[in-house]
Amino acid sequence: MRPRARSCGRFAFKNFRRELHFLCLGQDLGRDAAAVVFHTANLDGAIGAHGDRAYRYLHMDAGHLGQRINVAAVKLGLGASGIGGFFDDQVNQVLGIPEDEAVLYITTLGRPRRG
Ligand SMILES: Cc1cc2nc3c(=O)[nH]c(=O)nc-3n(C[C@H](O)[C@H](O)[C@H](O)COP(=O)(O)O)c2cc1C
Repeated sequence: MRPRARSCGRFAFKNFRRELHFLCLGQDLGRDAAAVVFHTANLDGAIGAHGDRAYRYLHMDAGHLGQRINVAAVKLGLGASGIGGFFDDQVNQVLGIPEDEAVLYITTLGRPRRG
């Protein structure tokens, strides 16, 4: 998402399930999700704005946004779960974002498993 431009980026995967499964350290949640939100941050920009506290604030922010998405998903009858375990460098590569941007968190969305 690009908050200033009020837009979201879309990324083409060759094989969405297989690649997500790998990026999420082989976790089934990544493979089974219908949609995935990557929470990324511009580290230089955040340090410029918040100094040494930037890293802490970025993670708090990702948590707040993740929680909002989870609450909205539940309200819509969807399933949502956060993923903190992923291959940082490989996710950056797939998203095509530079090294001074960081992936902080992943939110997986989909229909909850029945039963
Ligand atoms: C910061 C954070 C990171 C998480 N990372 C993972 C993860 O890598 N893999 C996973 O299966 N679940 C992950 N979860 C989801 C939790 O394991 C758990 O399913 C979720 O918090 C809902 O818990 P509940 O079903 O007990 O309410 C993460 C949750 C949070 C808040």
